[in-house]
Amino acid sequence: MFLTKEEESILAGEQGHGRRRAMELLVAVGKIYGAEKLVPITSAHLSGVSYKTIGEGGIDFLKEMSQDCKASVMTTLNPSGMDSVRWKEMRVSEGFAQKQLEIIECYSRLGVETTCSCTPYLSTNIPKKGDTIAWAESSALSYANSVIGARTNREGGPGALAASIIGKTPLYGLHLDSNRVPTVVIDAEMREDLLDYALLGQAIGSRIGGAVPYIRGVRPDTDQLKMMAAAMAAAGSVALFHVEGITPDSERQDVKGLEVIEVEERELRTIKDKISTGKEPDLIAIGCPHLSENEMHHLAALTKGRKKIKDIDVWFCTSREVVGKCHREVKELERVGKVVCDTCMIVTPIEGVYQCTATNSCKACNYLPSLCSQKVVCESAESLLGSVMQ
Ligand code: F3S
Repeated sequence: MFLTKEEESILAGEQGHGRRRAMELLVAVGKIYGAEKLVPITSAHLSGVSYKTIGEGGIDFLKEMSQDCKASVMTTLNPSGMDSVRWKEMRVSEGFAQKQLEIIECYSRLGVETTCSCTPYLSTNIPKKGDTIAWAESSALSYANSVIGARTNREGGPGALAASIIGKTPLYGLHLDSNRVPTVVIDAEMREDLLDYALLGQAIGSRIGGAVPYIRGVRPDTDQLKMMAAAMAAAGSVALFHVEGITPDSERQDVKGLEVIEVEERELRTIKDKISTGKEPDLIAIGCPHLSENEMHHLAALTKGRKKIKDIDVWFCTSREVVGKCHREVKELERVGKVVCDTCMIVTPIEGVYQCTATNSCKACNYLPSLCSQKVVCESAESLLGSVMQ
């Protein structure tokens, strides 16, 4: 891989230990994927924030990296293991909280914005069409690639951090035009419901793995796109998709001769039954990916004037930015449950506290059993809130 004189000097350690480690990582990845060179990025988004997922090894790595270097582009963080204010109410232990604060402190030293959300594109980190970025978090990077038309590979936490520090990423994969064309056509039926888009994403992801789908027959809004992107990325490894007439690059795609897969209503119902492994939830968690302002309005309208009749914990997961813009909705939703920020039902340690979690997110349904030891109820937000209110 070609390196400029400046990049060679970073690699030789002339600009400090952290930058050398970051450059070594980028060069190693670039070599594996046959990248011709590094290209500048305009932003990064990092995963690997919760103590639950990165553990002691992750803390050691972040301490090392944060000794003598900083992020060189706008960089945001994925959800951490707890609401930084309400962690005690979430029944997070003191020990866990201390470790979590250490992690956030390392990111802060690195100059990273420490509001933690998986929907940075709804708040402070908003790429433009055509921007080259280095994002981790499968749902966010798929949204950025597909709905915004920015360009990122499916980065892991360390790769995105290295790119943030150097301000560059290796030129390969989804940074190249040739890899951004559809490889399969999906014919779906028009849907209205948010859960149906999650189920559609689940169906597509399980059928096509990491291919680039061109989806026809649906007209999702931005919340539905967010939900579908998350499910496709979790059930498969879809990092880019096109929706006919909706996503910015869909117009100029040639899909002649591609395999066509039909996804019917029946398949969505089968998936819903299959991923629902539980019956009696002790936690209802809505907001995977984090709730948008629109979703907060919708949920608050659903609960308004109704009374909670069942004693079950309910969480609405969102970002602090959205909370800041939704005071009235937060007040309304707090009658029903907790509006939690900085975290989500997957990366906070709910195992041991709850046994069965209900959600309208297929991405969460993929991870709740393995990462949180939960049984799962997959239902729409309307029906979940309806089950605890009258
Ligand atoms: Fe976000 Fe957590 Fe879901 S990070 S996409 S809310 S699993």
